[in-house]
Order: sequence, then C-alpha cells, then structure tokens
Amino acid sequence: MITYAVVSTKGGVGKTTLTANFAAILADLGLRVLMVDADLQPSLSRYYEYSLRAPKGLSHMIMSGAVSDDCISKLSLRPAHCTVPRLPSGTPQGQLDIIASDGPDGTLQQWLGARIDRGARIKTPLHNPWVADRYDIVLIDTQGAVGHLQDAAVLAADILISPVCPDILSAREFTSGTLELLERLEPSANVGLAVPPMKAVIYRTENTVDSRALSSVIREQFVQLRGRVSVLETQVPSAVAYKKAATNQIPVHWMDPVRAGDTMHRLCWELAPMLQGVRTSDVEQTSPAEPAVEAAE
Ligand SMILES: Nc1ncnc2c1ncn2[C@@H]1O[C@H](COP(=O)(O)OP(=O)(O)O)[C@@H](O)[C@H]1O
Ligand SMILES: [Mg+2]
Repeated sequence: MITYAVVSTKGGVGKTTLTANFAAILADLGLRVLMVDADLQPSLSRYYEYSLRAPKGLSHMIMSGAVSDDCISKLSLRPAHCTVPRLPSGTPQGQLDIIASDGPDGTLQQWLGARIDRGARIKTPLHNPWVADRYDIVLIDTQGAVGHLQDAAVLAADILISPVCPDILSAREFTSGTLELLERLEPSANVGLAVPPMKAVIYRTENTVDSRALSSVIREQFVQLRGRVSVLETQVPSAVAYKKAATNQIPVHWMDPVRAGDTMHRLCWELAPMLQGVRTSDVEQTSPAEPAVEAAE
C-alpha cells in the first residue's frame, strides 16, 4: 500500500481536482483506492456521487485512532445527471472509496491541538493491516492552510504531491512555503515521523507560458529545498475539461479521454511506476459495459 498526500501551502491551486482525478484513474487501472478528505471544507467529499454514504468520517477515524467500515463511504462515478456523450466503461475497474470530511466546526483542529500524538493521528489509523489488506493506494487531500490537520496528513504519507502554478510568483511562494513546512515538520523525525519526499507537479500550464523555464526555476531552487523536492516531467495543462468533469461528477479522463486521458496516464506512470505503460483500456472490465449516456447538448 502506498499513501500519497496532495499538499500545498497555498489554496485554490488544484489539490482537490488532482486528488479526485488521480484517484479515479488509479481505480480505473484496477487498483483499490481509498481517498481521505482531510480538508475541513469538504470539496473532495462532494466531488463524486455516493453509492453508499457511511455514517462517520474523518473525525471518527482521527479521534478513535482506527479505520472501520462505518467511516468508509462508497463512490459512484456514474451519477444520474451525467451528460457526457460516452463513458468508457460505466464503472471503475477497481474500487474507489472515501473517508469523508465531517468536522466543519473546527473541533477537530482543537482536539488535535490538545493531543501530544497529533502528528501521528492520521498515520496510525491508515498504516494498519486492516487498511493495507483492503486498499492498494491511499490518497489524502489536504487543506491549503497551515494547521494540525495539514501536518498530520503530511506525516501520514509516503509521498507528497504538490501542484505548483506556472508563474514566478507562485514558484517563489512554493519554495518559501515548502521550506517552512519542511522545517516545521523535520523535528518529528525524532519521534519516528519522517517528512516524506515531495513531487512537485507543474499545474495549470497555459500555452502562453514557457513551462520549461518555470520547471528550471523550480529546479534551481532545489538547493534551498535541500533536494527534498523533485519536479515531475508530466505537467497538467489548464483546460476546461477539468471543470466540466467536476461539474458532471466524473473523472477528467472520461470527459476528455484523448488529451486529459493522456496527461492523467502519464501522471500515474510517474507517480506509481509499477503502473508504467498500463492503460485503462488494457484493464479487463469487471462489469459489462453500459450503454452510452446521451449528450444533453
Ligand atoms: N487543470 C485545470 N484546468 C483548469 N481549471 C482547473 C484545473 N484544475 C483545477 N481547476 C479549477 O481550479 C479551481 C481550484 O481547484 P481545487 O482543486 O478546488 O483547488 P484546491 O483544492 O487546491 O483549493 C477549481 O475551480 C477547479 O475547477
Ligand atoms: Mg481543495
């Protein structure tokens, strides 16, 4: 089992969109994926439709220190209102579940603040044989704001994924914000909680921007980041398909199988090298293909 956390020290960069789409393509590649919405503003929890909504969620997992069936919700990638002309398979080939965010009032942050083991409160329940037997990948979406919840999510991961927008200002903010994060969390290694390596994804590239130049700016700043961050080759462009897919509550590789599909596959192969070269079309369908849903337009 590999645990990824999608983090950024800045809001609105695309963490939730990236988490939802990465999770869905992994599930379509046949993996059993568990998403964890560790943002008190529950965008990921509202991204896809539910086929089964669990009575509990994140707070229960963190406070009880364990994951159980009653905090795992099941997702459906075929919402009734979907107007996409053609869905590749109708259902994901693997499995896609979520531990939804359920603590909007700030109690969870306060509760964590009072706990001496707060840094381990997400890692402990997730790095457990019960979870490892059921899932291949755990994917944690985090909040943009610094806080105990973000810290616990970072320390629960094996790999951090951080979207960074292709402009110099964002790149500089990325460097200073990430450095701050690493410096704040590095002492937790003394209690057995190492800060995982970070992979930066150049995210929302525009045709007008020379993304290669930006990559090299970020690479040059690695010295400051002490080699803890690497930049992925795959860049995610800014495209209307990402918003459209979110509106339709489906993964972007279903909405735009050619361009976004290609991007998402390449992202998967880089982030999860064991999947190198595998395509969703190669994975045997476990359920019969459903008839195409007619386009509304
Ligand atoms: N690749 C993309 N191209 C265009 N718009 C995007 C892309 N990724 C995300 N967005 C849009 O950017 C906004 C912020 O994305 P979101 O994933 O909610 O960010 P965060 O979770 O970091 O706050 C949303 O409106 C989303 O639809
Ligand atoms: Mg978000």
